[in-house]
Amino acid sequence: MCAMMRADHLTFLRRAIRRPALLATPFVTGSRLARDIARVIPQGSPSTVVELGAGTGAMSDPIRARLAPGARHLAVEIDPDLVAHLRETRPWLELVQGDALDFTALLDEAGIGTVDVVICSLPWALFPAAQRRALLHDIAARLAPDGAFSTITTWMALPDRVRDLRGALGEVFDEVVETATVWLNPPPARLFVCRRPLVRPQQAQ
Ligand SMILES: C[S@@+](CC[C@H](N)C(=O)[O-])C[C@H]1O[C@@H](n2cnc3c(N)ncnc32)[C@H](O)[C@@H]1O
Repeated sequence: MCAMMRADHLTFLRRAIRRPALLATPFVTGSRLARDIARVIPQGSPSTVVELGAGTGAMSDPIRARLAPGARHLAVEIDPDLVAHLRETRPWLELVQGDALDFTALLDEAGIGTVDVVICSLPWALFPAAQRRALLHDIAARLAPDGAFSTITTWMALPDRVRDLRGALGEVFDEVVETATVWLNPPPARLFVCRRPLVRPQQAQ
């Protein structure tokens, strides 16, 4: 493990101990799953990508690797220590410290209209159901018609919360594809890739 990865893991673990309800897991996403989640971005794409819950950058690196020079990659992270870590270790990242639940306002402030891809590793299971649904609605409303939304849930999430997330995704996306559990990721996780948003901007709440 290289020095930066070690620093990523240690910083994440320290913050997870301090704020378990925010980070939801003591582990950063494994590099294999992080690469898989980023595959939703066409290779060499000039897309606009928004990353929600950037943590210590486990997904930021593979997202960057798939983007063409000049593409836009906005990362949102709420925890100030994780933001400071990202600023130090990944100075190339366009980063805002903010609450992903303010998705529409954050995009407006960043001057982003339509988004091609949203990649998310927020702790869905810890959000109240109404907040989960409102955020998914806002994301779908800002996605390009041929855009994609990719997110993970881990096995630390209670089954009823995962069921609710699945149902909420189906309300705002025409296509929801769920992978089998990736057992090698600590903790085991599954990936949802959603396309064809059913919500248009004028219907935004
Ligand atoms: C499960 S961790 C994932 C971190 C990283 N993307 C990874 O895959 O290793 C969830 C991340 O979402 C952040 N987070 C939680 N609630 C948030 C919110 N409302 N807005 C923005 N970030 C949030 C946490 O601070 C944490 O960094």
